[in-house]
Amino acid sequence: MNTLLISLTTLLLLAVQAQAAITGQQYCNRYMCVTGQHDSDKNLDTYTLQPPSGTNIPVSQFGWIAIGFGNTMINTPMIIAWPNSDGSITLSQRKTNNHVTPIVDSNPPRKATLLSSSSFSNSSTTSITFTVPSNSSTANSTNLIWAYGNKNPGSSSSSTSSLAQHLASGNTQISLLANSLPNTTTTSGNGTSSTSSSPISAGGSSKKVLIAHVACGGIATMAILPIGILVPRISRGLTMQRWWFPVHGALNGLIAFGLIVAAFGIARANFSGGFNSTHRKLGLTLFILSIIQTLLGILTHWWQPKHRLQSKSGRGPVNLLHMILGLVVVGIGFGTVWWGLNDEWARYSGTGKPNVGWKVGWGLVVGITALAYLGGFYLLPRQLRMEKERRQWASNVSNGNGHPTSKFVPTTSNNSSLPPPPPPTHTRPLQPPQTVVNTNSNTSTGYVPPPPPRRLPPRV
Ligand code: HEM
Ligand SMILES: *[C@@H]1O[C@H](CO)[C@@H](O)[C@H](O)[C@H]1NC(C)=O
Ligand SMILES: *[C@@H]1O[C@H](CO)[C@@H](O)[C@H](O)[C@H]1NC(C)=O
Ligand SMILES: *[C@@H]1O[C@H](CO)[C@@H](O)[C@H](O)[C@H]1NC(C)=O
Ligand SMILES: *[C@@H]1O[C@H](CO)[C@@H](O)[C@H](O)[C@H]1NC(C)=O
Ligand SMILES: *[C@@H]1O[C@H](CO)[C@@H](O)[C@H](O)[C@H]1NC(C)=O
Repeated sequence: MNTLLISLTTLLLLAVQAQAAITGQQYCNRYMCVTGQHDSDKNLDTYTLQPPSGTNIPVSQFGWIAIGFGNTMINTPMIIAWPNSDGSITLSQRKTNNHVTPIVDSNPPRKATLLSSSSFSNSSTTSITFTVPSNSSTANSTNLIWAYGNKNPGSSSSSTSSLAQHLASGNTQISLLANSLPNTTTTSGNGTSSTSSSPISAGGSSKKVLIAHVACGGIATMAILPIGILVPRISRGLTMQRWWFPVHGALNGLIAFGLIVAAFGIARANFSGGFNSTHRKLGLTLFILSIIQTLLGILTHWWQPKHRLQSKSGRGPVNLLHMILGLVVVGIGFGTVWWGLNDEWARYSGTGKPNVGWKVGWGLVVGITALAYLGGFYLLPRQLRMEKERRQWASNVSNGNGHPTSKFVPTTSNNSSLPPPPPPTHTRPLQPPQTVVNTNSNTSTGYVPPPPPRRLPPRV
């Protein structure tokens, strides 16, 4: 099958070369592709304007698209094209002597003719092809300006329609004498060229790929990460039990991290254009920071050396960094999704702007997460008090030497000569022996012995 395709393509290329009639080149940017073909026999140039490969812009989303023969917007003959709601396509040749809406040029140097057989704009996508007589002195390098506007003129009149300013514009050169037309461009027997619509076949697989990317990234950043940071923030103020840790580590370090890597990998493998937008830059940042953050989380938990920067609670700078970077990661995740919704979806999904409900949903998730996390700080004094009680208890049971073990969560002493501490471990509520608490004398700050655990949790 593959070899058949290759030999067919080769035959086709040979046929084209044998004719030696059609040459040209395609130029693409993030907004549009221009395919320029030159037929030296007929002295005719054919230009196809369409969305970039992988992008579909249906008639309902298409604004206008244009090229001009020159370097700058000023005094360059332009050919502006747009689809109308009835599926017809309007060509309008214009010119301007300033950076304002170009005015109609009723007598352009080269008159363009729409090639209706290869032009269409329907609910799938848009592709517009027209011909112009070749420049009498066709050089290999032709200067072009290009522009794309996302607001349709709304009228099929080539002369009276007003144009909203372009979304993007620029200039480039194409080699009309080059033999580098896209493989899918074919020519018919008598030299009339037609560009097949297959370069813009985003329909099947790439839409699925896009959905996979959105699902992985969206679930990680809008669901798993927020829950993953709320669990420790809230549960640690309510209980000394350590179940939050495996939950937090699994949600953020395994599931969310895995999904972020997947979303990033899918994008890198399938989407062209590099890091050329805010969404893409944020996505890259999110990817890098979540690697660092996961490593920091592992360090925070398993590497608690004693050092002078350590706080009484046993927390070092790594803990603080992990917390701060964690919030940054969550924020960048929200931002990545926002710019994805706002910029990229309309451009690459082929289904236009996302429904406003998605943005409302985004706002709800961000708002609820922020409120719940800030609300969780209300529990912080209680959390710190519980941690302090445990430390005091821990130092008392280790014969009053006043130093908690290197971890702020006391574990069974590894020095067997010491009296074995009572059973409470980090999975149990704090249960200080009554006698120890009563003889505690270094509590000049008015330390109140904790109530028996059965009555926990009291109100803060
Ligand atoms: C990329 C994903 C991660 C994010 C966004 C994240 C975020 C956070 C945040 C915001 C906190 C502070 C919670 C609070 O306010 O109480 C926190 C605490 C913590 N995280 Fe993570 N985390 C991630 C991955 C991990 C991993 C993979 C581990 C370990 C395997 C981990 C271990 C911890 C520990 C031990 C704490 C408590 C630190 C302390 O209280 O001093 N985290 N994390
Ligand atoms: C739109 O037009 C192209 C080219 O004629 C065609 O391949 C495609 O199937 C059309 N799509 C719809 C939805 O009609
Ligand atoms: C033909 O090309 C020359 C040189 O590139 C340019 O100066 C001239 O304006 C072009 N003529 C037309 C009709 O486009
Ligand atoms: C035109 O330029 C292209 C590269 O831009 C080159 O591959 C091609 O050989 C050139 N053709 C002629 C006739 O100069
Ligand atoms: C076109 O075909 C040639 C040879 O078959 C191949 O080297 C080239 O990569 C193809 N170009 C595209 C855009 O598929
Ligand atoms: C040549 O082109 C014309 C117009 O595009 C078309 O009607 C005709 O069928 C073509 N002839 C051949 C032999 O392809």
